[in-house]
Amino acid sequence: MKILVFTEKPFAPAAVKAIADTVNTSGNELELVEGGTHADLLEAVKNAEGLIVRSDKITSEIMDAAPKLKVIVRAGAGYDNIDLDAATKHGICVMNTPGQNSNAVAELVFGMLVMMCRNQYNGKAGSELKGKRLGLYAFGQVGRNVARIAKGFGMEVSALDKFVPDVMMEGEGVKPLHDAKELFSQNEFVSLHIPATPETKGSIGYDLMMLMPKNGVLVNTARKEVIDEAGLMKALEERPDLRYVSDIKPDTAEEFEKKFAARVFFTPKKMGAQTAEANFNAGVAAAEQVIAYLKDGWNKYQVNK
Ligand code: 3PG
Repeated sequence: MKILVFTEKPFAPAAVKAIADTVNTSGNELELVEGGTHADLLEAVKNAEGLIVRSDKITSEIMDAAPKLKVIVRAGAGYDNIDLDAATKHGICVMNTPGQNSNAVAELVFGMLVMMCRNQYNGKAGSELKGKRLGLYAFGQVGRNVARIAKGFGMEVSALDKFVPDVMMEGEGVKPLHDAKELFSQNEFVSLHIPATPETKGSIGYDLMMLMPKNGVLVNTARKEVIDEAGLMKALEERPDLRYVSDIKPDTAEEFEKKFAARVFFTPKKMGAQTAEANFNAGVAAAEQVIAYLKDGWNKYQVNK
């Protein structure tokens, strides 16, 4: 059976080799398309029974072009790039690979936070993370890795996540919070780990940012859609002490950079999960999951029903 790996952003070479070895050993056939166009995808999915993607947009049109397709695995955590309803209608199982790239994303939180607290290395005295309060918006796989690393920096960590019981956070030395207002008002640094859903889209804006203590930094390694860009911009205009770092460029990135210069930073390309280790873990897990589904319907991480 043909398993197609279609990624705009390529996996590390070692990960590609491991994915190929996994697929070949299973007796299936691999087709790899990196950096292909929409037309390339429509052509390549024609005979595919399994599909592995990253943040690549998978729409109903693509599923229509893939009559044999049975399973799509998003090598990563967030699956907002896949039309789940369309997949269900097409009888296609969609899975993600939870946890496989979360340490990579968590490490980037600190890469960006240290850079911003050191004034993007411009020579002026900055500030340290030790003793500061870090609030996590969601305490899933990435949030828990961020908490673990934050303790090494000597930070006080709290988290807001309605799906995680207080005792579980407390067991990991994290103070449970129950309201977004608490999260923003009680922490100098807030790190976002919420998915983009109808409920979270545009939910972080002016009101929450204005609650942040002096010299607050908002870190976004989640999704750009959760930000109300106009509201965030207004808060940065009114509060010259606030800063914003993001692994996902806002739609209005140029305006942010022009207006706030050293108070904002955006990675040129989304880099959170872009490490050899994360590519390897997520890529091989995705290959194993596709193979297991095609073999006997294994669907532990199915996200559409
Ligand atoms: C994820 O949801 O797993 C991360 O955002 C990584 O996305 P990427 O595979 O497109 O880098």
